[in-house]
Amino acid sequence: MNDKFQFTLKNTSDKARLGEITMPRGVIRTPAFMPVGTAGTVKAMYLDQVRELGADIILGNTYHLMLRPGAERVARLGGLHALIRWPYPILTDSGGFQVMSLAALRQIDEKKGVTFKSHIDGSVHHMSPERSIEIQGLLGSDIQMQLDECVRLPAERQEIERAMEMSLRWAERCREAFGEQPGKAMFGIVQGGDIPDLRVRSAEGLAALDLKGYAVGGLAVGEPQAVMLDMLNVTLPVLPKEKPRYLMGVGTPDDILKSVACGIDMFDCVMPTRAGRHGLAFTRRGKVNLRNARHAEDLRPLDEESECPATRDYSRAYLHHLVRANESLAGMLLTWNNLHYYQDLMKGIRASIAEGRFADFMAETQDIWARGDLDPV
Ligand code: GUN
Repeated sequence: MNDKFQFTLKNTSDKARLGEITMPRGVIRTPAFMPVGTAGTVKAMYLDQVRELGADIILGNTYHLMLRPGAERVARLGGLHALIRWPYPILTDSGGFQVMSLAALRQIDEKKGVTFKSHIDGSVHHMSPERSIEIQGLLGSDIQMQLDECVRLPAERQEIERAMEMSLRWAERCREAFGEQPGKAMFGIVQGGDIPDLRVRSAEGLAALDLKGYAVGGLAVGEPQAVMLDMLNVTLPVLPKEKPRYLMGVGTPDDILKSVACGIDMFDCVMPTRAGRHGLAFTRRGKVNLRNARHAEDLRPLDEESECPATRDYSRAYLHHLVRANESLAGMLLTWNNLHYYQDLMKGIRASIAEGRFADFMAETQDIWARGDLDPV
């Protein structure tokens, strides 16, 4: 096959995998963390900075971009990459998940797809599996996601099964609509809630479609972490080893380490960006709330050994002041710190898998968090 989309597994450390996705717009080193750029911006960051931190790919959202500025408009403006000035790979989520969490008056019909009212101006929109793929094509997305239905947990088996079976049939329609696009990919999404046999059925059904990659969806939606890991452990053995696996919407640094240990290759989450805008900093020694008064006169930076200027050069006292004063710079510096932390974690994960010592790296990292002491004076 001379497809310009290739996934290469380079090394493993138990079940953890080191790999590379090669595509025309660039190489994605896996395990990868994809910063979330919902509306064509990674909030509070310049994309040059995002790149410099080591991000190989960012995520965009069909739902937001179809409503504003509109998919056809983005296409007329030269596509998302040119518009936002990010020439590297972009993955777009299909829209179904965001419709369910953001839009009003949602209705699902297997044939027609989802009908919903925009959270921006109340206008009514329809999105079928085919239209979702069409929109992702208009945006110019490199990795497109199938339209699916994600059920919030807890839920009845019958409801989880109905949504999973429909998502499977939608995967087939999305694959048809996507057709052959060398250098680009359409990923299927495993559903099935917290029920092992439904997860297996979903993964088998998708594996039979021979897609270029597979996501695990419907997790981190209210279930305990142990349930999420159980679901990964039943799902991943069913998926083809030679294809990338993406865990959608996850998660905390601890979720990421444990999911890499199960064999996940890609992640996205709003956590580092959103937490940054709320005054929370992720650091090597744990999470810090800079709103807290104990930082008011602390002249030390978050971590003097960090390579990130936001982490190394600004005092906790100043960050505290900016957070309390609701200054934009607070969100900018803390998002920068947090995305640096996440990308640095991924670098450490990749290096340790390359050396066959991922389990040690995970234990050491968790041990430092457990000591949890940000003030080791
Ligand atoms: N983001 C987080 N979870 C999901 C999911 O189950 N489906 C989709 N499409 N996006 C997600």
